[in-house]
Amino acid sequence: MGDIHGFNVMDARSPLSLPRTVALVGLMGAGKSAIGKRLAMRLGLPFVDADDEIERAAGCSIAEIFEKYGEADFRAGERRVISRLLDESPHVLSTGGGAYIDPETRALMRAKAVTVWLRAELDVLFDRVRKRAHRPLLRNGDPKEVLARLMTQRYPIYAEADVVVDSTAQPADRTTEQVIEALRAHLQTEKTPA
Ligand code: S3P
Repeated sequence: MGDIHGFNVMDARSPLSLPRTVALVGLMGAGKSAIGKRLAMRLGLPFVDADDEIERAAGCSIAEIFEKYGEADFRAGERRVISRLLDESPHVLSTGGGAYIDPETRALMRAKAVTVWLRAELDVLFDRVRKRAHRPLLRNGDPKEVLARLMTQRYPIYAEADVVVDSTAQPADRTTEQVIEALRAHLQTEKTPA
């Protein structure tokens, strides 16, 4: 069943079962929440936004945490919250843009999750972030320049993720589909011994 002229037609449609949490990484505006919510729906898993969890734990917004305590304290809180979330049952986890850049948080994510980098070009990122003003790092100077600098610093590190998918201006459902196919291919390589 499912094999027509040597082509396994069940492959592309069989449900993808995730052995562990899928953590989405990438810059602000990469679409981690938009794609993450769709991905969670498609996989039948809960969606968790790490930034929301940090705000809940701190009892204030991320902008207020940066303002009152500074970025280093924010990163420490982010590390604690993500560490706790990674010990929960498998889910789709959207992480803030700097989470994977922190060496300890990255090591935790690499050990306990399948990591997916949503890679996007500057214009795509900028177009998505310019409508909202809640991100503290984008208040430090010209937002497009900040994003360009962060791309230079962070893209070589995001590139260590298990799976890389381009997040373009195409509909989010299409990108979600590409994430599912990339995850399927990655999980297959994990199963096949080298
Ligand atoms: C940050 C990204 C933000 C948030 C914080 C710091 C970063 O999350 O965690 O403002 O360092 O890139 P999003 O990537 O969800 O905007």
